[in-house]
Amino acid sequence: MMWKEKYRIGVPLIDEQHEELFRRVSAFIETVQSQGDWDSKLEKVKETLAFMQEYVVSHFNDEEAFQEQINYPDIENHKQSHVQFKDAVAVYANRFENEGLNEELVQEFGGKLVTWLILHVAATDQKLGQFVKSKEEE
Ligand SMILES: [Fe+2]
Repeated sequence: MMWKEKYRIGVPLIDEQHEELFRRVSAFIETVQSQGDWDSKLEKVKETLAFMQEYVVSHFNDEEAFQEQINYPDIENHKQSHVQFKDAVAVYANRFENEGLNEELVQEFGGKLVTWLILHVAATDQKLGQFVKSKEEE
């Protein structure tokens, strides 16, 4: 799962954060799918979970602040999709607490992260990018 130049929306802060998200999620997937015993991967799994909870929240805050600043018309929908993702991560965090970091659940979580990241960066945020560009052309 690779970052692509076409994902750039032309806002350096947000583009850098998206690249970092891709790097982290890719590294996570690689670890989860790599050879080796499950216990040796647990540190990486924990680290990624903590990263997702912190970094994604600060990324969303930055993105929302930027949308407010430019009066982005679709901000409410965009915020809603952020809330849904944060909720989804929280549900997994809870399940990991209750069920333990079992391989099947972690694989499922990894799959969700990939799907979400691609949808978020390659679709939802592209609309924001188009708006930024249309503003610049005014
Ligand atoms: Fe984003």
